[in-house]
Amino acid sequence: MSSENWWRSAVIYQVYIRSFRDGDGDGPCCGDGLGDIAGLRSRLDHIASLGVDALWINPWYPSPMADAGYDVIDYRDVEPRFGTLSQAEELVAEAHERNLRVLLDIVPNHTSDQHPWFVEALAAGPGSPARERYIFRPGRGDGPPNDWVSNFGGPAWTQAPDGEWFLHLFAPEQPDVNWEHPEVRADFADTLRFWFDRGVDGFRIDVAHSLIKEPGLPDVGDLVYPREYVEQDGELVLPPWRPHPHWDRDEVHEVYREWRAIADSYSPPRVFVAEAWVDEPERLTHYLRPDELHTAFNFNYLVAPWTGPGLRKAIDETLAEHVKVGAPPTWVLSNHDVTRHLSRYARAEQIPGRHRLQDLLDMPYDLAVGTRRSRAALLLTLGLPGGAYVYQGEELGLPEVEDLPTDVLQDPTWERSGHTERGRDGCRVPIPWSGAAPPYGFTTAAETWLPQPNDWAALTVEAESGDPSSMLELYRHALHLRRATKELGDGPLRWRADAGEDVLAFDRGEGFACVVNMGSAPVALPAGATVLLASDALTDDGALPGDTSVWLKP
Ligand code: NOJ
Repeated sequence: MSSENWWRSAVIYQVYIRSFRDGDGDGPCCGDGLGDIAGLRSRLDHIASLGVDALWINPWYPSPMADAGYDVIDYRDVEPRFGTLSQAEELVAEAHERNLRVLLDIVPNHTSDQHPWFVEALAAGPGSPARERYIFRPGRGDGPPNDWVSNFGGPAWTQAPDGEWFLHLFAPEQPDVNWEHPEVRADFADTLRFWFDRGVDGFRIDVAHSLIKEPGLPDVGDLVYPREYVEQDGELVLPPWRPHPHWDRDEVHEVYREWRAIADSYSPPRVFVAEAWVDEPERLTHYLRPDELHTAFNFNYLVAPWTGPGLRKAIDETLAEHVKVGAPPTWVLSNHDVTRHLSRYARAEQIPGRHRLQDLLDMPYDLAVGTRRSRAALLLTLGLPGGAYVYQGEELGLPEVEDLPTDVLQDPTWERSGHTERGRDGCRVPIPWSGAAPPYGFTTAAETWLPQPNDWAALTVEAESGDPSSMLELYRHALHLRRATKELGDGPLRWRADAGEDVLAFDRGEGFACVVNMGSAPVALPAGATVLLASDALTDDGALPGDTSVWLKP
């Protein structure tokens, strides 16, 4: 694999910067103990020691933090609570010295309401050119211009003091920009170049599928997005695809063709990964046509239940669609927006699509089961063709913190849902590094921005390092072995026939096989194979127990 094509096989570590490590002991935004660039630099060796290829860092730009940094005031600077632009440049250089590439996070659908453009638009009033950069409209009667709803709950429109309404598909502090406006397009292109000129290797694109809105902004009506399966002749089928007025519109691809040309004008070329929650793999791979984006998060895999048929279906659909456009798939189990997979897999009942904490809270769970399945899922994920993502803390086996006191919750979902949805804070709790009690070496400040549980002493990097049975050592071992195994990463996969409904078994080339047992009874391993790595111990007679996976040399 040429170094230009590194992204086709890469494992990328997600740094949720506010929760990775606090290097300066302050962080007045959210109580003391907010992670920052200094903290990230102080622990780059942890990331390098895992054996990953790159980092993706969540937004670090100046922001009032209405949505944890996804409300940006200035795309070409660094939030003072996280550090400075020169620290950011030093971090990129230090990552490169360790052979780690760096992806940043660009937020093109909306700005902060404190972005100079929006401040100007509010002041300038209806009909002004400044308002053209956003989506302002008169209301319909006394109400908003249409029936669109915000992703965080409530209407997607807020009324300005002069009576006009502005669109925000997320929080009111995140007004949507108007991608039909040439100045908007030119400015985001400048932002890409600004960071590419500083050595940044690429971008994750926030809500990549939302930028373009249907002219006339018609009501959504009864159009469900993402589509839901309906029963037809005794089978579950997806209703035919219909264009949605603001998600995944075909016109958005034109933007990414422009972005691709910018990325390709650099040497080495820069890369993109799309965050696009579209409702089926075929729509996703439209973003990955050869002149568009390089990769996209594969949420179809993330939302699949821990069952043989569920995962097999997600993998098959993914592979079948990606091959058509020649793009490598990615495999992702967790991120800062979903319940940590250890806690999802811990649920006795596995229901497709359940990734929001709110939908899981009432379901009984067993973290030991979740841990065992997460170990098995790691070998599956790293054995599949293409690239993979690791969300900080999953390498420690962190569970979701499901019982954060409601008075510390910061996710806008909590307020916007009228206190009915706890939101995403439970997967954002600061990383435990060392010691026996909070703040576990995360900060020198007295508190962390979200409180850490008291029972995480065994889950610190310090406690797990060197313990061969720990999640951390499994990650290190598997990632290093993956790197050394030429069959892994980009390339084809061949299923083994007759493995059984609860078993996934596949070959990668002639020299590597992976078997995952999602059932409860042990299964025999193929005769004559050598075990390279197992997620947990085999049975005394060498069979693969339930919720266990193994890498083999056939
Ligand atoms: C997706 C991000 O991952 C999420 O954290 C954020 O709230 C929304 N986009 C809005 O920017």
